[in-house]
Amino acid sequence: MRQYTGLDQLINSFDQALRSLVPGATASQRANPAHNEAAQLCVSDARHVAGLMRVNHSGEVCAQALYHGQALTAKLPHVRKEMQHAAIEEQDHLAWCEDRLKELDSHTSVLNPIWYGLSYGMGAIAGIAGDKYSLGFVAETERQVSQHLQEHLQQLPEHDDRSRKILEQMNEDELQHRDTALQAGGVVELPAPVRITMTAISKLMTKTSYYL
Ligand SMILES: [Fe+2]
Ligand SMILES: [Fe+2]
Repeated sequence: MRQYTGLDQLINSFDQALRSLVPGATASQRANPAHNEAAQLCVSDARHVAGLMRVNHSGEVCAQALYHGQALTAKLPHVRKEMQHAAIEEQDHLAWCEDRLKELDSHTSVLNPIWYGLSYGMGAIAGIAGDKYSLGFVAETERQVSQHLQEHLQQLPEHDDRSRKILEQMNEDELQHRDTALQAGGVVELPAPVRITMTAISKLMTKTSYYL
């Protein structure tokens, strides 16, 4: 296997970040779960759904960054394939959220570079701390993302089946990612400061990305 130099890695990291942050740069491998579902929304409902989808999109940017940061530092020899599979599914999520925002005539969050940077750093630190912590971090992140998705599913207007199908598929995938990380050894309880920081970032993200 080719050995990458520090410069190679820097360029690769920059490329990954750009792909996650520039709208339209990520294509989904699976078809959009919304298919031909209908969604007739009034202006205020459309605005609310766009806010929710913008938060979900920012969450997916964080997921990309977490997996990229983790891949930089974690060893994970026995679960590398599963982690890569999860990271590819996260790209689908990113692209589907972007599609829905476009349909709603809205935009992704301008704050995404900040969320990407913070999550990338946390993923890389978790990787340095050891595979057990790295997997524990993935499991906890996926659990929190699934919780948000379930809350958003409750908040969707009843007749927005397009957003609903996307969020349902995402939630199913996230729970699968959480289980994969747990089965691989991520059952470790994360240190309290880490959990508190994660919750604080996620709260800040959901509160601001809804509007910006
Ligand atoms: Fe995701
Ligand atoms: Fe996930």
